[in-house]
Amino acid sequence: MINDQKKFTEKELNPLSSLDVWEDDVLERYPEPDTIATSKSTEEYRNYDDPARDTVKEFYRLNHTHQTFDFVQEKRNNYLNFNKKEMPVWEAFQFLNQLVDDSDPDTDLDQFQHLLQTSEAIRRDGHPDWMVLVGLMHDMGKVLCLFGEPQWAVVGDTFPVGCAYSDKIVYPEFFKYNSDFSIPEYQTKYGVYEKGCGLRNVNMSWGHDEYVYQMMKDHLPEEGLYMLRYHSFYAWHREGEYEYLLDDHDRSMLKWVKLFNPYDLYSKNPEPPDWKKLKPYYEDLVAKYLPATLKF
Ligand SMILES: [Fe+2]
Ligand SMILES: [Fe+2]
Repeated sequence: MINDQKKFTEKELNPLSSLDVWEDDVLERYPEPDTIATSKSTEEYRNYDDPARDTVKEFYRLNHTHQTFDFVQEKRNNYLNFNKKEMPVWEAFQFLNQLVDDSDPDTDLDQFQHLLQTSEAIRRDGHPDWMVLVGLMHDMGKVLCLFGEPQWAVVGDTFPVGCAYSDKIVYPEFFKYNSDFSIPEYQTKYGVYEKGCGLRNVNMSWGHDEYVYQMMKDHLPEEGLYMLRYHSFYAWHREGEYEYLLDDHDRSMLKWVKLFNPYDLYSKNPEPPDWKKLKPYYEDLVAKYLPATLKF
């Protein structure tokens, strides 16, 4: 565990019973492909009486409070050297699967099953094989939790740091607790960025998206890399926010991020895929694009 995390209690590190609780919550906000969260649906969502909702709210309070511009730089410096661990790809899935839901080990599918269901749904629709691989790899960054990162620094909707927050980000009222909120330079429309600078120049809140993008960036086509890097940036791909930071390249890539999102959100099925049957296909696919080992 890294020193700076010692100030957090166990409850602050892991407010959710499992990482899946965040994704289940996203599904309630965006119940259908192409839905955006209208103010009415947001209100209904808030009023829905559910104890799980309180833990999600607490999760976002922590996320919005602690994901500062400096926090993101510190995590980038710490993780983007990829000097923590090196594993063969298939061992990495086993490593990821150590993330289990303590509260309900029987009902939730493990991480690998979610990845496989996502990739199989993409394959069934006849998309290119690199997109199937995106489906298989897209949540590999959740291993950050196994390196001791708090849940709110691994999952959660991502958003740009160093500029004004969109009020379309879930629970925007919690941003007032973020120390960046009192730094005027970070609270203008463009903040530390320039108009139309392109998302590649924008620092996003830290989480599994950026980490897996950096891990995969030499191995997949650009469209696939956008899917990885921005799949949790709901304020952009669902709500259409932050137009003023985009360049033409981002605008042309948005359709790919949107194409991927329903496979992530709506492919969950209680029936686990038949891995024995699928294994030869995936072994070939991984060998075609990825090196023998992955660096973490
Ligand atoms: Fe994800
Ligand atoms: Fe996912």
